[in-house]
Amino acid sequence: MAAYSLLMLPGDGIGPEVMRQVRRVIDWMGRRRDLEFTVSEGLVGGCAIDAYGVPLSDETMAQALAADAVLLGAVGGPKWDGVSFDKRPEAGLLRLRKEMELFANLRPAVVFDALVDASTLKPEVVRGLDIMIVRELTGGVYFGEPRGIEDLGNGIRRGVNTQVYTTPEIQRVARVAFELARKRGNKVCSCEKRNVMESGLLWNQDVTALHAAEYKDVELSHMLADAAAMQLVRNPKQFDVIVTDNLFGDILSDEAAMLTGSIGMLPSASLGAADASGRRKALYEPVHGSAPDIAGRDIANPIASLLSFGMALRYSFDRGEEADLLDRAVQNVLKGGMRTADIMSPGMARCSTSVMGDSILRELDKLVG
Ligand code: IPM
Ligand code: MG
Repeated sequence: MAAYSLLMLPGDGIGPEVMRQVRRVIDWMGRRRDLEFTVSEGLVGGCAIDAYGVPLSDETMAQALAADAVLLGAVGGPKWDGVSFDKRPEAGLLRLRKEMELFANLRPAVVFDALVDASTLKPEVVRGLDIMIVRELTGGVYFGEPRGIEDLGNGIRRGVNTQVYTTPEIQRVARVAFELARKRGNKVCSCEKRNVMESGLLWNQDVTALHAAEYKDVELSHMLADAAAMQLVRNPKQFDVIVTDNLFGDILSDEAAMLTGSIGMLPSASLGAADASGRRKALYEPVHGSAPDIAGRDIANPIASLLSFGMALRYSFDRGEEADLLDRAVQNVLKGGMRTADIMSPGMARCSTSVMGDSILRELDKLVG
């Protein structure tokens, strides 16, 4: 069997230390599951700025385009604040998303039984929660033109960003949401601000039209994005799949992350369109950021990154069995009481990043016997 190519971009802050645990699981898959990967590494974000003067070099961009999947850690940190947007660490990540055309960002928020008490919400509100946020990732206000800060003179400046969507952009991401819903709870809730934004009105109309034409079997509802933020903490289990734009998806997915107890638990997959052979460009990354305040201390939670690799197994390599194994290993380790600092609760065993990795590997060994 030919090896799949993986490009690892650990990035900044806690990125490298959590990705080290991912690397161990990749190697485990090669040893124990006959799943060979050719792994290369590159720089993205602040570390790339330090090394090359840009947050993503053209060579790394080309490697990302050629890889079967990209695994990213996190980008950013105070060291690189205060420079123009195109030179910030985040610009490296945005370039990857844009040039790989990763328009569909899947952010599942699943509450593991063992972590019900780690959430700041009441156990009965979050127990058994399993929702999927589908965030549009290559359009909207993140990329719209015009943008910039303009000097109007007399000490007055003007900051501009543009929220813009076209029908094909809306429909292709809505299609991903409908298809996913069919394999889950068969419900899609589309969120926008049609009460104040034309782009929201168009979003609403295009999703409605696509639903009527191709997905009548799926239950579709619409919610204003602010109301959705409220409903996510009031009664999150009413949702199955949420589809929304780039900015609202950024915000709602951080909110959804905290339902699960910690943002350190949330994985994500960013997918492009399928080509003729059914393959999609794909990038997998934890939803959390670089957490510079705890970087280098071996206390970060590697689970979001590990589950992101699990999503790669599922969506890029069609190895659902191995993805399930990894999910189960994580669940069992949590059931056994191991906790990194972010999900620590009374009576549990606090552990480091690397010990969490050790435990998950040991559990994987146990599961395959
Ligand atoms: C995310 C992050 C990014 C975003 C940043 C790092 C550019 O918050 O993936 O949610 O805003 O999309
Ligand atoms: Mg975010």
